[in-house]
Amino acid sequence: MAASTQTARVVVTGGAGFIGVHSVEALLAAGGEVLVIDDLRHASYRRLPESARVEVADVAEAQAREAIRTWKPTAILHLAAQGGVNRSWREPAEDAHINVLGTVSVLTAAMAAGCRRVVVASSGGALYGAARRLPTPEDEPTQPRSPYGTAKLSIEHYLGHFTRAGSLDALALRYGNVYGPGQDGTGEAGVVAISSHRLLAGTAPVIRGDGSQTRDFTYVGDIVAANLLGLGSSVTGAINIGTGRETGIGDLVRRLCALAGYAGEPELEPLPPGEVARSALDSSLAAERLGWRPGVTLDDGLARTLESFRDQVQ
Ligand SMILES: NC(=O)c1ccc[n+]([C@@H]2O[C@H](COP(=O)([O-])OP(=O)(O)OC[C@H]3O[C@@H](n4cnc5c(N)ncnc54)[C@H](O)[C@@H]3O)[C@@H](O)[C@H]2O)c1
Repeated sequence: MAASTQTARVVVTGGAGFIGVHSVEALLAAGGEVLVIDDLRHASYRRLPESARVEVADVAEAQAREAIRTWKPTAILHLAAQGGVNRSWREPAEDAHINVLGTVSVLTAAMAAGCRRVVVASSGGALYGAARRLPTPEDEPTQPRSPYGTAKLSIEHYLGHFTRAGSLDALALRYGNVYGPGQDGTGEAGVVAISSHRLLAGTAPVIRGDGSQTRDFTYVGDIVAANLLGLGSSVTGAINIGTGRETGIGDLVRRLCALAGYAGEPELEPLPPGEVARSALDSSLAAERLGWRPGVTLDDGLARTLESFRDQVQ
């Protein structure tokens, strides 16, 4: 996709992270200029392309606002966040500081810079709770089950306020469970990355609970395509970005074991409180309004991910 007027000069907050590095690569490949704003607290092991400019700054602080004001982007992709659901329970004030105040700060800077187009990463997995409809459309009542989900919902309300006030054209993309090369396999979130990391280290992967809980696993390349389509469009509101397919965690881990040639049994751990039982996102609106559809099958995406982790280990 070639850079449009809106994607010609893009600030990517959290651009050094998992989804960020892939998004920056795609924006640069499309001919755009990119300024990454990231304080590197959770940077991906994938290196940023050298042609990306980098401002090391906390998105909640004045330095980041000043960088946006002076660089004058044509659009902002806001990905910087505290992304751990469990961590949001342990550190809810930190979560709100980064995810809510950090976002409000970036939106304020966008308005000061005269940049109307803002696309923000939200979470389909964390907003719908025990959804009545699966795959779940955007008009399902939201009932977040964690401080992280509450912060993402709050962000969406801010985007709505500033858009209705005529100051921004802001879009929230409600991603499914994103996986792929570059995700941190050493933390506590991201079952594909964690399991790949463990399998390649020769340790048993872990299944929490009985493994019957389902998620909508969406390949990072498809997420990046949605980010670029979102940045280049004038669509506002909130849109799901997922495959519409439910995959059980137990099934997923066993697929990875088979791909890695691991013959042992996974370890079992208790399910953390508040875990959503089932999740899959209806992305009809993304197809209709952005022309977005997922392109990578789960088996293909898992194989690519495992291969990239293997390269990293060697
Ligand atoms: N990975 C998923 O499955 C998933 C699902 C739904 C939504 N999201 C959202 O997508 C976005 C990107 O997620 P990711 O998986 O790439 O996460 P990530 O942790 O890999 O990347 C986040 C980046 O933001 C940076 N960052 C964090 N706090 C910051 C701050 N205060 N100031 C500046 N930089 C800061 C980190 O250093 C990191 O580089 C996040 O908003 C996340 O909530 C991710």
